[in-house]
Amino acid sequence: MPDIHVLNGPNLNLLGSREPAVYGTTTLAQIEASLRAKASTRGFGVVFRQSNHEGDLVQWIQEAGAVGAPVILNAAGYTHTSIALADAIMGSGARVIEVHLSNVHGREEFRRHSFISAVAEGVILGFGPKSYDLALDVLMSGGEKNGNS
Ligand code: DQA
Repeated sequence: MPDIHVLNGPNLNLLGSREPAVYGTTTLAQIEASLRAKASTRGFGVVFRQSNHEGDLVQWIQEAGAVGAPVILNAAGYTHTSIALADAIMGSGARVIEVHLSNVHGREEFRRHSFISAVAEGVILGFGPKSYDLALDVLMSGGEKNGNS
């Protein structure tokens, strides 16, 4: 099994201090450490990345697709704007679980649309850092794609 790639979009580097009422106080480094620890107990490696640049995320999705690595993707603000990220998922064939810390459906109207959801295998949102954790559980359980995507 290839490493599990955890890809994070813009402003997630600010977690911990960014709008704590919405995103909590856990930092991205803490999320990374917790995922690495959990994955390692089951013998899985983790590639954990964050960028504020859309092209980096496109590149990383393509790289994951090329080696057959599953992806946990929090595209952050690009979720709601990026056809390029959706194209990267479709074009590379990467297996992607979309995650969000917050419940985007309970927030501003513009957050209700995701370009990622239609091309992701599934979506987990609203559980804070636990959203990442649940996505990791799915990937480590070896669950097959459910046929809905
Ligand atoms: C987010 C939700 C997005 O709407 C927002 O732009 C983010 C974070 C989340 O994890 O809740 O940056 O993806």
